Amino acid sequence: MILKILVVDDERLNLKVAEAYLKNMSGEFEVILCQNPLEVEKLVVENDIDIVLLDIIMPIMNGTEVIEQLRKNHYLNDVQIIILTALSDAETFKVCFDKGADDFLKKPIDVNELQARLKAAIKTRNNAKILKKMYQRLKEQNLELKELNKVIKEAQFYMIQKEKLASIGELAAGVAHEINNPLGYVGSNIETMNNFAEKIKQVVDVYRKSFAGLEQLETQNKEGQAYFTNVHDAERKFKFNFVMDELNSIMKDSGEGIERISKIVQTLKNFARTGAENETAYSNLNSTVEEALLIVKNEAKYTIDIETHLEEVPEMECNSGQLGQVILNILVNAIQAIKAQNRSDRGHITIMTGSAENSVFLKILDDGPGIPEEVLGKIFDPFFTTKDVGQGTGLGLSISHDIIVNKHNGMITAGNNPDGGAWFYITIPLKKEGTDCL
Ligand SMILES: Nc1ncnc2c1ncn2[C@@H]1O[C@H](COP(=O)(O)OP(=O)(O)OP(=O)(O)O)[C@@H](O)[C@H]1O
Ligand SMILES: [Mg+2]
Repeated sequence: MILKILVVDDERLNLKVAEAYLKNMSGEFEVILCQNPLEVEKLVVENDIDIVLLDIIMPIMNGTEVIEQLRKNHYLNDVQIIILTALSDAETFKVCFDKGADDFLKKPIDVNELQARLKAAIKTRNNAKILKKMYQRLKEQNLELKELNKVIKEAQFYMIQKEKLASIGELAAGVAHEINNPLGYVGSNIETMNNFAEKIKQVVDVYRKSFAGLEQLETQNKEGQAYFTNVHDAERKFKFNFVMDELNSIMKDSGEGIERISKIVQTLKNFARTGAENETAYSNLNSTVEEALLIVKNEAKYTIDIETHLEEVPEMECNSGQLGQVILNILVNAIQAIKAQNRSDRGHITIMTGSAENSVFLKILDDGPGIPEEVLGKIFDPFFTTKDVGQGTGLGLSISHDIIVNKHNGMITAGNNPDGGAWFYITIPLKKEGTDCL
């Protein structure tokens, strides 16, 4: 490698002598001469100079100022500066070295000394160059590592998300399966009991009519009257009229209860089927809202009123299990936020749906504490949570964001209502061309 040496001296003769010495020395150098110290920095940069032989006493700008100027430019930090001076003044040496000179040569120049100093400067310069290259390589590798780390984090997020969805799905499927069997026979038994109750009522009717007839016939028979009294007493004691009246409505309520449980089980089964998969089908957003509500209703019933304004919306191509997840996440967050307030009045959540030309929208508002402005920008980040350890993983909204934005080509935003509480707004196009769900 040819090294470039810049010799700076205001005396032309000195420059020529130095040039002659350098040219006679072994080693490959390119020598550039400079009589004007004001041009040193420019020459060093333009020619990529390795070593500067610098005179100290010069009229326009002295050597110490040149050193200062070069060292200010951090790209020139490792350019080797050897000062050339006839001075024996120790203070000037000190200033030169303080400013960043690397070595010195006394004038008049001694060839052997020049050779020795240059050798040391070349070695240092070469080492600096190697170090610079290694540093550059390290920087590049660091960048590569950072990129890799990002990819690993993303992969980890998707794995956790998949696992979370899959485990919710599995749980739902397990619960649904366990409940489904007993539900089947309890349901059919209730139906049979309803039929039996009807029959019992009709027979009791006949008994009662016959009993009343007999009672009329036997008014004079004292012994017989005691039997009738016993029956009347027993009916009164056990509120038989009330029991007979209530039987029907109890059976009706039980039947409705069983129907509701069946619906919930069906909803859980739907979640299990579509929650973890990338299936899409035409479905109605309002039904998905109703299904999600069935699941959270119980969580909310003692403390929060949930109001719905569901406008008629067109069917859309989507993964309703995944959309149900999103609605659930938002509702659960709202319920948790309201409950955390420990307030005396009931909380309020409003769910609205509607449609525009090519999309449907869903708005969920709550009257909880709202989302602090400083965290509003982070709530969709994976693992961001303000909840205590073990209470929130901080994945609910990031999964929701992924489902809406990446899987359904939609949009999800959040903010705070002027009179308190948070809102979430989602829009989804009716057709999802170009999404990774299809
Ligand atoms: N309705 C809301 N009101 C107030 N803060 C909310 C509301 N919804 C979300 N947040 C804030 O956003 C954060 C992130 O919510 P996200 O659902 O992603 O995670 P999480 O609820 O903390 O945990 P996870 O859902 O995984 O159990 C919450 O910790 C909370 O600070
Ligand atoms: Mg959550």
